[in-house]
Amino acid sequence: MASEQQEEFLTFADEDEVPGVEAGHGKEHWKVIIVDDELEVHHLTRMVLSDFEFDGQRLEFQSAYSEEEARQVLRDHPDAAIVLLDVVMDQDDSGLKLVRYIREELKNQAVRIILRTGQPGQAPEKVVITDYDINDYKEKTELTTQKLFTTIMAALRSYRDIMVIENNKVGLEQIIKSSADLFELKSMKKFASGVLTQLTSILNLHKNALHCNSFAVAKGQEKIYVLAATGDYELSDNDRVENVVPPHVLHCIEKAFRDKQGEFDGDHFTCYFESKTGRENVIYFEGQKSLTEWNRYLIEIYCSNVSVAFENLYLNEEVETTQKEIIFTLGEIAETRSRETGNHVKRVAEYSKLLALKYGLPEEEAELVRLASSMHDVGKVAIPDAVLNKPGKLTREEFELIKEHANYGYAMLNHSNREIIKTAAIIAYQHHEKYNGTGYPNGLAGEDIHIYGRITAIADVFDALGSDRVYKTAWPLEDILEHFRQERGQHFDPKLVDLFFENLPAILKIREQHCDPF
Ligand code: C2E
Ligand code: SIN
Ligand code: SIN
Ligand code: FE
Ligand code: FE
Repeated sequence: MASEQQEEFLTFADEDEVPGVEAGHGKEHWKVIIVDDELEVHHLTRMVLSDFEFDGQRLEFQSAYSEEEARQVLRDHPDAAIVLLDVVMDQDDSGLKLVRYIREELKNQAVRIILRTGQPGQAPEKVVITDYDINDYKEKTELTTQKLFTTIMAALRSYRDIMVIENNKVGLEQIIKSSADLFELKSMKKFASGVLTQLTSILNLHKNALHCNSFAVAKGQEKIYVLAATGDYELSDNDRVENVVPPHVLHCIEKAFRDKQGEFDGDHFTCYFESKTGRENVIYFEGQKSLTEWNRYLIEIYCSNVSVAFENLYLNEEVETTQKEIIFTLGEIAETRSRETGNHVKRVAEYSKLLALKYGLPEEEAELVRLASSMHDVGKVAIPDAVLNKPGKLTREEFELIKEHANYGYAMLNHSNREIIKTAAIIAYQHHEKYNGTGYPNGLAGEDIHIYGRITAIADVFDALGSDRVYKTAWPLEDILEHFRQERGQHFDPKLVDLFFENLPAILKIREQHCDPF
C-alpha cells in the first residue's frame, strides 16, 4: 500500500480514537480515568466497578495521583469516556484547573467529568456546576456502591450518545470530502482503490484493518477482473477474480452482476455500478462486524455519489480513447503521405511536452500539447503528392501550395469542442508562424502567436533539421544549435529558445530514444 494512503489511515485513526460505539465484538472497553491523591479511592473505585458492564463492554481504568500526572494521562487517553476527578489535590483547586485544561486546552468536550470532593466547602456544588463545564458533582461520602454504579451508567449513556453524533459527523464529513476527491481521479484503477480506501475509513473498519478485505472488480468481455484490492486480496490487481477469491465471495459478485444491484448481508456487502456506456463494476467489502443501520445509510449515500463519478469517469475514458485513436490515425496519414519517418511525429510530441512543462504549463495541459502536436502537419494530406514528395528544391508556387497545409489543418480540426482537437487546431494553424512576424499563414508576431504554436515551431524545426527529407539530408547537431542561436527572437520565441538550451540534455535523450532505424 502506498505510504500516502497509510498516512491517511493513521491520521484518521488518531482523530477518531473512541471506543467503537458500534463495535460489538467485546474487545473494546470504556476508559475511565481516576484522578485522586488518595490511593484508597483508586482501590475502592476499581473494586466497586470491577464487574461493571455497559453495552457489552467493560471498564478499563487509568489512574493519576496528582494534577501533573493527570494532565499526562488525559493527554494520553483522548478516548476516555469518564474522568472521576478529585477537587483538592496538590492545590485546593487542582481539580477545577483540570476541568479547564480538559475542555479548553485539550478541547475534549466529549469526556464526561464527574467531580468528587471530600471537602465540599472548598468547591461548593452550586458555584462549580455553574462555572465549570462538568457533568456531575458528588461528595465522596455519597459514593456508595450503588450510587457509583448509577452515576457511571448515566455518564456512559450520555457519552455513548455524544459519540454516536460525533461519529456520524465524521462519517458524513468523510463522504463529502471523498466524493469530491473522486471527481478528480482520472484512471479507473486509482478510482477503484480510492473508493476502497474511503469506504474503509467511512466505516471505521481500520480498527480491524488486518481483517478488512475489499476489492473492486470490472466485467470485461469474458472475465471479471480485479481493479483494486485491500486486505487478503491485495496484490491481486488485474487477476481474474476466480483466481483470487473463495467461491462464496465469487458467488456474491456474480449475483451483484446478475441482479444489477448490490446488497448488504451481515458482515459484507456489494455495491453495483453501471456507466451510461454499459461498463459494469462491483465492489465487494467485508469486515469483522455486522453493519449498523447508520453504516448502511453512509454506504448508500457514498455509493450513489460514486455512481455519478463512475459514469463520468467512463465517459471521459471513452472520449479520451476515441480522441487518441483519431489523433494517431490522422498523424499516421500525414506521416505516410509526406514519407516522413514514423518517429517524427512522436519526437515532435515529446519535445513539445517537455518545452510546455518547462515553460510552466500544468501537467494536464502539457499532456494535451503532447497529444495534439502530433497532428501539426495533418493538413499535408491535402497537398499534391508531386509537390509534397518532390526530391529537390520547391519553386515559389510549389512552396505557396505547401504553405496551405497550415490552413488545411486548421480547417480540418477547428469544428470540434474536444479539448485535444481544439489544441490540435491551434497547433496546425500556427506552427509555421514566426516570432518576428515573417511566418505563415497569418504573419502573426510575438505573443500573438499562441504558446502552443510557439512551442511546436521549435519542436518541429529542431526535428526537421535533424532528419533526412526527400529534399535534404539531416544537419549535424552543431549546425542545428547554431541555427537556433541565430533564430532566437527571429523565428523563435527567445524565452523558449533559452528553455530549449537549458534542457538540451533531456531533448537529446528524447531524440535518441525515438531515433529512426537505419
Ligand atoms: P518539414 O520538412 O517538416 O519542415 C518543417 C520546417 O523545418 C520547415 O518549415 C523549416 O522551417 C524547417 N526546415 C526544414 N528543413 C530545413 C532546411 O533545410 N533549412 C532550413 N532553414 N529550415 C528547414 P517550412 O520551410 O515552412 O516548410 C514546411 C514544409 O514544406 C516542410 O516540412 C516540407 O514538408 C516542405 N518543404 C519545405 N521546403 C521543401 C523543399 O525544398 N522541397 C520539398 N520537397 N519540400 C519542402
Ligand atoms: C481517504 O480515504 O481519506 C482518501 C483516500 C483516497 O483519496 O485515495
Ligand atoms: C448498495 O449500496 O448496495 C447499493 C449501491 C448501488 O448499487 O448503487
Ligand atoms: Fe508544418
Ligand atoms: Fe513537421
